[in-house]
Amino acid sequence: MYNRTRRLRKTQGIRRLVQETKLSIDDFVYPLFIEEGIGIATEISSMPGINRFSLDKINEELDEIVQLNIPAVILFGIPANKDEDGSETWDENGIIQKAIRFIKEHYPTLYVITDVCFCEYTTHGHCGVIHDNDVDNDVTLINIAKQVVSHARAGADMVAPSGMIDGTIQMVREALDNNGFVNLPIMAYSVKYASAFYGPFRDAADSAPSFGDRRTYQMNPSNRDEAIREANFDDQEGADILMVKPALSYLDIIRDLKNDFDRPIACYNVSGEYAMIKAASEKGWIDGDRVMMESLLSMKRAGASIIITYFAKEAAKLLLKKH
Ligand code: PBG
Repeated sequence: MYNRTRRLRKTQGIRRLVQETKLSIDDFVYPLFIEEGIGIATEISSMPGINRFSLDKINEELDEIVQLNIPAVILFGIPANKDEDGSETWDENGIIQKAIRFIKEHYPTLYVITDVCFCEYTTHGHCGVIHDNDVDNDVTLINIAKQVVSHARAGADMVAPSGMIDGTIQMVREALDNNGFVNLPIMAYSVKYASAFYGPFRDAADSAPSFGDRRTYQMNPSNRDEAIREANFDDQEGADILMVKPALSYLDIIRDLKNDFDRPIACYNVSGEYAMIKAASEKGWIDGDRVMMESLLSMKRAGASIIITYFAKEAAKLLLKKH
C-alpha cells in the first residue's frame, strides 16, 4: 500500500510537525460585563465563571487577563438607567466611557474594544430607536455615530458595532474620521444571526427585547448567500475586521468569509455555546476542557483568526500548561 495516512499520526512528535491549525492566546478576545454601581461581582447563573463587575471590583479580573497575556477585551455595559433611545451610550460619564478610561489608565497594554449597541440601554431592549414597533434604521445611525465618537474620545482602541443596522460601517467610518480618529479600526458584526444561542447573554446584560424579537434586523439562520452580501457591504464601507456570530453553528459562514474576503475574520463564540459546554461538563457528560479546546480549534480551522470567547481565560491557562 503506497498511501498510509497513519504514518503521520504514529507519535506525538510527528503529529506536532504536521498539525495544521494551532490555537494561541493571541487569538482571544475576552468579553467583560461592567455594571454601574459599587461592590458588584455577581456570577451570571447560566454562565458559570462569568461575572458582572462594578469598576471598583474589577481589578482582580483585569490583573488575571493581563497575567495570562490575553491581548484584548470587549466591553458590555449595564447602566443604572435606561431610556427610550439609550442615550447613556453617548454620555461621556456613561458606564462604558468610565470603564474605558479606567482600563486605559491602569492597564495601558490591554487592547480595549467596545461593543456598539443600544439593547442594554433602552427601556424596550431593542438595538435602536423605535418607530411603528420596529427599529428605525436611519435615525438609529445618527445615535450610533454619537456613540462611537464618545467611545473614541474616552480612549477605546477599536469599536465593534453589533446592531445589524444598514449603513452602520460607513456612518461609523465617517464619524470617526471627521473627529480625528482616522486610525481607529472597526470590527463589524457583519454576519449576525437572529439566534437562540444569545439567551444567557440577555440575562447577563439585561437586554432581552420587551416586545417582538430581533428578526427585522438580525439575519435568518437559514441564509448563507445573504451572509456574503452583508460582508460585502461592510467590506466596501471600510470595516477593518469582519465578524460572524454565533460561531459553532456557523462554521460554514466563517469559511465562506475567509475564502471571499481579504480581511481578518473574527467569530463570536456566544453565551449559549459557552453555557451548553459548561452544563454538560458539570453533569459529567463530557470532558469540558477537551470539548472547549476542540470547539475553539474548529473556529480557527474554519478561518477565524480572532475568537471572542468567554473561555479565553480557561483556554489560556491550558495553553500555558502545554508549554
Ligand atoms: C447586542 C449583542 C448581543 C450579543 C453581543 N452583543 C445579543 C443580542 O443580539 O441579543 C450576544 C453575545 C452572546 O450571546 O454571548 N448588543
